Amino acid sequence: MSRKIVFTSGKGGVGKTTITASLGLILAKNGYRVLLVDGDIGLNNLDVITGVEDLIVFDLIDVLSGNCRLNQALVESPLSTNLFVLPCIHSLSSGVVSSQKLKDAINGVDGLFDYIFIDCPAGVELSFHRAVSIAEEAVIIVNPSISSVRDADKVIGLLKSYNLNSISLIVNRIRGDLVLSNEMYSASEIASTLKIALLGVIPEEDIMLKGLTDTPSESQKALKIISKTLSGKSAKHYDYLKKYSGFWGSIRKELRKIL
Ligand SMILES: Nc1ncnc2c1ncn2[C@@H]1O[C@H](COP(=O)(O)OP(=O)(O)O)[C@@H](O)[C@H]1O
Ligand SMILES: [Mg+2]
Repeated sequence: MSRKIVFTSGKGGVGKTTITASLGLILAKNGYRVLLVDGDIGLNNLDVITGVEDLIVFDLIDVLSGNCRLNQALVESPLSTNLFVLPCIHSLSSGVVSSQKLKDAINGVDGLFDYIFIDCPAGVELSFHRAVSIAEEAVIIVNPSISSVRDADKVIGLLKSYNLNSISLIVNRIRGDLVLSNEMYSASEIASTLKIALLGVIPEEDIMLKGLTDTPSESQKALKIISKTLSGKSAKHYDYLKKYSGFWGSIRKELRKIL
């Protein structure tokens, strides 16, 4: 049996696709079998970020229309063995894809994977419902801004009406220097405002703009910690304040203000 986890947020642009794919890649490299499902019908971000874009023969819509079996649509990512993607490249009217059909199709490959991650589309309409219906756990991605926290709050309200085993939070794009100068909410403030458990914290870092990378970086470190927490091997959080603490930390903080 796989763990089916939906990564959601309400509005787009908070880092859902990047985080879903990055965590999937880290877990696959650690020997877990991971399937990434693109819930963003027609927008196909996941296939591009995982490098399977040119390898797609069939997609989710083909599966649901009966043109192929689900395992024919799964594409192994060139980034790692054990990392598979169920792409969705057709911009077919998403209304034809029923939640139950999708759920049945995913349940058909349940035994093949340790994790099935669903990259939830932006918005809270039908495609949100479909993506959440497949999942047993939800992870909400939030940025440390008032609008993102408000969005997350609305999404949590909606998620509570589903039969999920857990709802947890990842705070993405946090800046330790701004938290220390009280210009940004801390991750724990956000978690207590939203009243859900903090799964992890990821710092704002330019390297995340490059897509998936193995380059050692603070965001990679943070994602690796989250992958361990997710698989029950740790309960730590990335320390986003460390870099700005102590003597050198204060200098770094001042420099960041000037630059
Ligand atoms: N921690 C981060 N630091 C800097 N840029 C980030 C971070 N997380 C995500 N991004 C960037 O933000 C943009 C939106 O991310 P994306 O994963 O596409 O969001 P979503 O799927 O929620 O719409 C991308 O350009 C991505 O590289
Ligand atoms: Mg996305």
